[in-house]
Amino acid sequence: MTTTQLNELTHRLATINDLSEGEIGQNRLVYSPTWIEAQKQVIQWALKLGLTVTVDDFGTAYMDVPGTDHPDQVIATGSHIDTVAQGGRFDGLYGVLGGMQAIENLLVTEGHPKETLRLISFSEEEGSRFPDTFTGSKHYTGAKINLAMTDPDGIHFDDARQTAVAQLNLPGVKHDLPDLPDTFTELHIEQGPRLIDHQLQIGLVTAIVGQRRFTITVKGIANHAGTTPMDERADALEMAVTLISQLRDQAHQLDSGLTFTVGEMHISPNTSNVIPGLVTFTIDTRSNDEQILDNFEQIIHQVVAQHQEPKITSTVNRWAKSDVTHLDDQLLAANQKTADKLGFSSTQLASGAGHDSQIMAKVTRTTMIFVPSIDGISHAPEENTGQVDLLHGVELLTESLHQQAY
Ligand code: GLV
Ligand code: MN
Ligand code: MN
Repeated sequence: MTTTQLNELTHRLATINDLSEGEIGQNRLVYSPTWIEAQKQVIQWALKLGLTVTVDDFGTAYMDVPGTDHPDQVIATGSHIDTVAQGGRFDGLYGVLGGMQAIENLLVTEGHPKETLRLISFSEEEGSRFPDTFTGSKHYTGAKINLAMTDPDGIHFDDARQTAVAQLNLPGVKHDLPDLPDTFTELHIEQGPRLIDHQLQIGLVTAIVGQRRFTITVKGIANHAGTTPMDERADALEMAVTLISQLRDQAHQLDSGLTFTVGEMHISPNTSNVIPGLVTFTIDTRSNDEQILDNFEQIIHQVVAQHQEPKITSTVNRWAKSDVTHLDDQLLAANQKTADKLGFSSTQLASGAGHDSQIMAKVTRTTMIFVPSIDGISHAPEENTGQVDLLHGVELLTESLHQQAY
């Protein structure tokens, strides 16, 4: 890849990331105004490159270079356009724009492919606005999505979806749900410290962790902070803290590889002189072992059941579940050969983050390429990857798409 092409990639990354200017980190929650602007911009770049653009009902963009010999055989790459709240500059976006750069490189150096090359910019992966994850790739692969779910402001997914998708109806853009591809390759930052700690340039992904997300709702009784005796309170926050502490200990005892995160909490009425009457908090838990996730889910129910009191009750709602996913061995072996040939130091590793690839892997041969994350930081404004590493990832992707589609 030339310096001009690297400049183009960094310029495109900066253009999208600048849409969140003035905020803490990147905030492209699905169907937000910034998300709409970003997806529009990606589509406009694709149209300018001469790609055929199709948008589906969920706002995922499919950007094709039709194959000259086998247009029905589709070699896809891509990732997601959304971020977590206060997220980083590369999670998802690098896979979309790195994929665009790889396709542009191939068009310049190799001309049109025999098989169709498809760049996908998935609408949503993070599960950061509505209580579901991977809704973009789930919709593409035919999974059912609850359109009635709401965000914390009470906005319905379906209303937000329709309003946003209408704005992607740009001149030259078709509206449809394309057929599934024959392979899918996702380029992504590692989001952890393993590559950087071992000074490796490329990670080739063997498997993706299973994850489950829950919301625990604790109902107590709101009352006066000064007049309610300490032994007569039904303090929902005090109970939430007890539950979190016990569950964290149990997770640790169960398996050292099991992750346990409480990342979101809502306290009502959330004011200094009122005992909290209602608390909700989320649990995100992940493991490479489905049995451990099953066991921990049971533990969550047991611990919550043990702490029911006459005046304080708690309920558990699991709203996301994705299984441990093994990616395609042949595509991984081919990418390993190519990484070796290009002289990149690499390792094969399992991903602790969730990815659209785990949904795509249910319907098509799927592989992932990781590049290092500086200090192993991700889902935070400090998320970063060196320019040379960004370049290496695109080079490997370019070569992989070349082998598959030409
Ligand atoms: C998505 O990035 C996740 O792993 O939460
Ligand atoms: Mn991601
Ligand atoms: Mn993410």
